[in-house]
Amino acid sequence: MTADGARVILVTGTGTGVGKTVTTAALAACALGAGRRVAVVKPVQTGVDPGEPGDLAEVGRLTGLTDLHEFVRFSEPLAPATAARRLGEPGPDLEQLAGRIAELADRDQLIVEGAGGALVRFNDRGQGICELARVVREVMNCRLRVVLVTGARLGALHDAAATSQALRAAGVPADQLVIGDWPVEPGLAERCNLADLGSYGQAPVGGVILHGADQLTVPAFAKLAVSSLTPTLGGTCNIAKYIKTDAA
Ligand SMILES: Nc1ncnc2c1ncn2[C@@H]1O[C@H](COP(=O)(O)OP(=O)(O)O)[C@@H](O)[C@H]1O
Ligand SMILES: [Mg+2]
Repeated sequence: MTADGARVILVTGTGTGVGKTVTTAALAACALGAGRRVAVVKPVQTGVDPGEPGDLAEVGRLTGLTDLHEFVRFSEPLAPATAARRLGEPGPDLEQLAGRIAELADRDQLIVEGAGGALVRFNDRGQGICELARVVREVMNCRLRVVLVTGARLGALHDAAATSQALRAAGVPADQLVIGDWPVEPGLAERCNLADLGSYGQAPVGGVILHGADQLTVPAFAKLAVSSLTPTLGGTCNIAKYIKTDAA
């Protein structure tokens, strides 16, 4: 269970491919392990044809969860608003998306995965995950926790700082950072960056997910999820063990 019992966790990222989906699965696995009723939502999925497995299939494969909800899909691997425009469509209406998320309000925990990085647009009004988060918070009148998934390699400090500033400016500041894909053999940059990411990203590092997590079976992934996330996010991880502090 998350420490403050936030009902909705929004998972966004510093970019595409940073590990939002595996982070979403880890959050779900921890909540499931704590006996909570969990649903995972992917409001907008791009880059996948109808009937093909998208991010939710990945979450299901890693956690065994079947309470999975995707609302809008675009086949082209593009930002949702761009894919929609190419079809002559305006893109999804955020009030409608928020309404469908609110229909799942009887779950103990809702985990919502964005599309791409935090500033990617969903529709021709220039709205994206930040605006959706605000509408969900309003419609559901509940605490919404924002998890920002980031890398740790060289360049990650700037990405985390820039994205965190943007989230803050949009009224949905990041509550926690999670490293979505921590290398098996972290280099100097990764281990030193981890010490600075919290300050750059204006939120504590609440998880480090090891590379290869996406290859595990459901029971193995559940175990890894608990050891990857800090107690605030439902696990037992102590981030300090990954950080390099000495000069040697
Ligand atoms: N911890 C990890 N271990 C192994 N592969 C990972 C990990 N995190 C992400 N990846 C891989 O990186 C790619 C992008 O990850 P994904 O979670 O889909 O990113 P996002 O959801 O942020 O777009 C996928 O191929 C995924 O399998
Ligand atoms: Mg994803």
